[in-house]
Amino acid sequence: MNPRYEISADPFDATRVCRLSHNFGDHPGLSNEALRGLANRLQAKDRRHVKFIDPATRVDSRLHHDSKAHDGRSVDQVFDTLTTPGTYIALYEAQADPEFRKVVDDVIEAGRKLLSGDHAEIFDTDAYVFISCAPTVTPFHIDRENNFFLQIRGTKHTSVWQPNDRETVSEAAVEGWIVHQSLDQVVFDESRLPFAAVDGNVKGGEGVFMPSTAAHMTQTETPGGEVSVSVGFVFYSRATKRRANVHACNALLRRLGMNPTPAGENSLLDSCKYLMGFTAIRVLTALGRLQKPRGM
Ligand SMILES: [Fe+2]
Repeated sequence: MNPRYEISADPFDATRVCRLSHNFGDHPGLSNEALRGLANRLQAKDRRHVKFIDPATRVDSRLHHDSKAHDGRSVDQVFDTLTTPGTYIALYEAQADPEFRKVVDDVIEAGRKLLSGDHAEIFDTDAYVFISCAPTVTPFHIDRENNFFLQIRGTKHTSVWQPNDRETVSEAAVEGWIVHQSLDQVVFDESRLPFAAVDGNVKGGEGVFMPSTAAHMTQTETPGGEVSVSVGFVFYSRATKRRANVHACNALLRRLGMNPTPAGENSLLDSCKYLMGFTAIRVLTALGRLQKPRGM
C-alpha cells in the first residue's frame, strides 16, 4: 500500500452516488506509456481484454465492444495517435496483469478508508481502463460492482443515476442484469436526464463513486484532441453480495407472477430473500441451469 495516494469525498455513503477527488494522476502505473504496455500485455494474454467501440455509438445504443479497432489501427498505432478524433480503447479486467494489480491495490486501499461495515468487506476487485479522444460515447448501462470511477487525465462528461432510481431503471431490469447478465431492459430515456445524481464534466483529479447497479453513461466532448484517461476500479462487498441475492430472489418471485417488494425497502424481508436467493442461485448453478453470476 502506498500512503501518498488518497481518494476523498465529503460526505460519502457507499449506497449513494457521489463525486470524488483523488491524486492518482501522477501514479507511474497510469502514465500513457504504462497503459500502452498494459494494453499489449493484456492483448497477448487474451484478445478479449482489449476492446474498441463503433464510432457511431450513441448514449442509447446497446453496449457493444469489438476486439479490433474500426479503423484498423493496432494497439501500438492507437497509442501513437491517441489524439485522433474518435479514438476509443478500453482495457477490461486489467487486474489480470500482475503489474497493474499493484495499481488496483493502491486505489482500493485508498478507497477503503471511505468504507465501513459490510461495505468494507471487499472481494473480487478489478479495473476497467478507458482511453479516448472526443467525440466518443460509452452508452447507458449498469454494472454489478461498486466503482471508484477515477478521471486520471482529460475531461469526461459523466452522467450517473442513484442505484435505487427505479424510474430510470426498473427493478425487473436490474434483476435481468444481476441474474441473467442481460441489459435488454436497461434503456436510456432522455426525460430522465434531469434526475441524474451527477451530470457534468469530470476532470483529471476528480471521479465519481458509482454503487452497484447505478445507471451511467459517459461522453468525451472536449474538442482539440484532448485525451481522456479514466479508470473504473471496481469491487464487490458483503453488502453488494447481499443485495444481488435479494434481486435474485425477487427475480424468482416475479417469474412466479408476484410483484415483490423492491430490494432495500424492508431489511427483515431482505434477510429472508437473501437466503432464498443465495440458495436458488446455487441450486440452479449445480443443476447447470445458470452460470453463477460474479459477486454472488
Ligand atoms: Fe460501467
